[in-house]
Formats: sequence, structure tokens, C-alpha cells
Amino acid sequence: MSLLSKHGIIERNAFLLLVLSFLVVTIGGIVQIVPLFYLENTIEDVEGVRPYAPLELAGRDIYVREGCYVCHSQMIRPMRAEVERYGHYSLAAESQYDRPFQWGSKRTGPDLARVGGRYSDEWHVGHMYNPRDLVPESIMPAYPHLERTTVSSEYIGQVMETHQFTGVPYTDEMIEAAKADFRAQADPDNGDVDGLLERYPGAQARYFDGDTGRITELDAVIAYLQMLGTLVDFSTFEPDQSR
Ligand code: HEC
Repeated sequence: MSLLSKHGIIERNAFLLLVLSFLVVTIGGIVQIVPLFYLENTIEDVEGVRPYAPLELAGRDIYVREGCYVCHSQMIRPMRAEVERYGHYSLAAESQYDRPFQWGSKRTGPDLARVGGRYSDEWHVGHMYNPRDLVPESIMPAYPHLERTTVSSEYIGQVMETHQFTGVPYTDEMIEAAKADFRAQADPDNGDVDGLLERYPGAQARYFDGDTGRITELDAVIAYLQMLGTLVDFSTFEPDQSR
């Protein structure tokens, strides 16, 4: 009997086919999954990547609360059209501390992975107040309430503790300084900016919404948007080819 006709036996017996298919899929699965248990980390360390500063983290939570992710992804794929439009493709390390991550392919609006520094703070203030004031054909909803709502740092230390629990390398010192760092980033004239920068290198500290009197949700959201994609210096970045 040739090998091919032996295969015919399997094809004519549904139960045998089922059992053998299951076996093949199981072996394939094990081969893929087991090595991952023996790797300490599947993410290449990249210089510059750090956990979010407290104000940025609060902004990120507002971003998630408002459902911005429904229209915006944060993942530039390594395809020419995307790289030309948005910049260097996203590295795994860049979303290493995102809980939950903001990847995706649903893009009603542009990808925001590298929107940091692309526009001025004033642009974002106007755009959040009413996108159509700046981009007449925009279908993005307006978020005027962000500017009206103050944001509290009351629970930010606890939020950071939760992130620490899930593996984000916040130190106890960072958690202790959470409220001070939160304030310093949005109200640099009255805060310890040096301490903030020591704990969160590259953090930008200024009056993001232009209002020096109070810290609003808009401050937090713009602080978050303005740091997206800015941590890694791609003029010196070299992918690790050894793994
Ligand atoms: C209904 C879909 C939708 C939602 C929800 C949405 N956006 Fe947008 N967004 C868009 C579209 C479409 C554009 C492109 C037109 C424009 O610039 O307004 C855009 C543009 C942007 C831009 C400019 C990006 C660029 O590179 O030009 C930013 C920043 C932005 N959105 C932030 C946000 C934030 C923050 C939220 C949540 C508070 C949000 N968006 C919610 C659809 C959306």
C-alpha cells in the first residue's frame, strides 16, 4: 500500500482524523508556547523607555475613560506607508508599561503612537475644545469638559502601586513623590521639577492647557499626548540583532 492510500484511511475515518489533527495541533502549540516560559523577557530593553510620570498616567486614564482608543490606535506597523506617515515603526518596549495596551488596527482617526511634539499645546487645547475649529472636515467629537474639570492627584499613588504590582518598575520613592511630581509637571513654577526629571527623564513640565491657576483633565491629557513616542531617540537606536 502506498503512503498516499494509507492517508486515505485517515481521510475516510472522521474520528481518527479528529484525533490525529488534535495531536498535531497540540504538538505545534507546545513547540510555540513552551520556549516562552524559559525566556526571562520577550521584550528587548530599549534606552529611554520609562514608566509614565504621574500626570501622564492620569492623562492616559482619561484617554481610556473617554474612549479615544475607539478611533485611535497606538501602533505603527513596519510598512512603508505607515512609517512615512507616522515615523519609525513602534517597538514592543514602547508600550511595555501600558496597562492596558493601546494597539489596534481600528483607525477612524490617525495613529497617535508618535503624536508627541507634532503639534503645539495650544493646538491641542483648540482641537480638544472643538476639532472642527482646526480641522474643518474632522468627525472627532469635541471634549470641552476636559478644560473645565480639575484633576485630583488624590489616588495617583495608589494607581501607581497597582501598576507596580503588575510589574511596572515604579520604585517606592516614585510612589511617595507621586503627588509632588504630579503637581510639578503641571505647575512647574511651584514644584520640584529637578526631582521630577530625575525620576522621569525627559518629562515635559509646563502649563499644558495655558491656565496657570488650576490643574485640569486637559493638562493631564495633553501631557500624555505630548510624550507619546518621544522617549526613544531613533537617531541612535539600533535593533538588537542577537535575539
Ligand atoms: C469618533 C472617532 C474619534 C474619537 C472618539 C476620538 N478621535 Fe481624535 N481624531 C479623530 C479623527 C477622524 C481625527 C483626524 C481629524 C482631526 O485632526 O480632527 C482625529 C485626530 C486626533 C488628533 C490629531 C492627530 C494627528 O496626528 O493629526 C489627536 C491628538 C486626537 N485625535 C486625540 C484624541 C483624543 C485625546 C481623544 C479622546 C479624548 C480622541 N482623539 C477621540 C477621531 C476620533
